[in-house]
Amino acid sequence: MTRVRLERRRDPAAAEPGAAATGGGLPVRRAPVIDVLEVRKRYELGGIAVRALRGVSLRIEAGEFVAIMGPSGSGKSTLMHILGCLDAPSAGSYRINGVDVAGLDEDDLSDLRNRYIGFVFQSFNLIPRTRALANVALPLQYAGLPKADRARRAKTALAMVGLSDRTNHLPSELSGGQQQRVALARALVTNPALILADEPTGNLDSSSTREVLDVFARLNRQGRTIVLITHEEEVAAHAERVIRVRDGRIVSDTAASTHTQVVHT
Ligand SMILES: Nc1ncnc2c1ncn2[C@@H]1O[C@H](COP(=O)(O)OP(=O)(O)OP(=O)(O)O)[C@@H](O)[C@H]1O
Ligand SMILES: [Mg+2]
Repeated sequence: MTRVRLERRRDPAAAEPGAAATGGGLPVRRAPVIDVLEVRKRYELGGIAVRALRGVSLRIEAGEFVAIMGPSGSGKSTLMHILGCLDAPSAGSYRINGVDVAGLDEDDLSDLRNRYIGFVFQSFNLIPRTRALANVALPLQYAGLPKADRARRAKTALAMVGLSDRTNHLPSELSGGQQQRVALARALVTNPALILADEPTGNLDSSSTREVLDVFARLNRQGRTIVLITHEEEVAAHAERVIRVRDGRIVSDTAASTHTQVVHT
């Protein structure tokens, strides 16, 4: 297995979840975090081909906060699965931090996902009957960290999402917004430079949505690259750039004209 080089730091798992993802402050010419070229995705289902992506090209630089919008079935989740190396394109190329994923085997890809990407989904996917702290610490088991370190880091990640007082709660004892923040803490605990979120506020009311967006905004200020899929214009308004997808193609890609400040409540 080739060691995938994605980060400047040698061992990303050694960094605290609270550490800034960019450091130094010096401008460094780097490859885009995401560099997608003419990507197509075709699903074969019962002899019928579904062309979910029909030639998508997209670059996202380190530290950007990008929203992806589009009607149901337009290919947003398909695109996110490719960006997250959960699925491979049928054609075209994808480089993540300059690394062509086509050259990576399954071990490399899972290593890359674990060390570099944090995923957040619409359904929180927390493990029931497992306390918030243990849910958050889970990804660190794969990193082979001692138990005390895992707990310490999980606490830091929960503090980052404002849930220091809920570490011993079960998912069923938390509100929807709190559950999604636990899921965010779990995505953060490995200190990923890239966060991919598919409708993270889709199941939340407006005040929980605000709480979760507040955390995304903070993570972005710390230098993390965020790609967030949403149906809601208000949610997209928090991003610096909005990409609209329709029928498997990008139909617009614009810098947000007015940047809505996230209000702390
Ligand atoms: N595993 C699959 N097998 C076959 N077709 C699929 C598969 N996954 C998605 N599709 C099809 O690909 C197209 C794009 O699906 P995708 O899930 O990317 O849409 P989406 O934009 O995320 O929609 P939504 O907003 O409803 O989540 C759809 O027509 C869908 O039916
Ligand atoms: Mg989807």
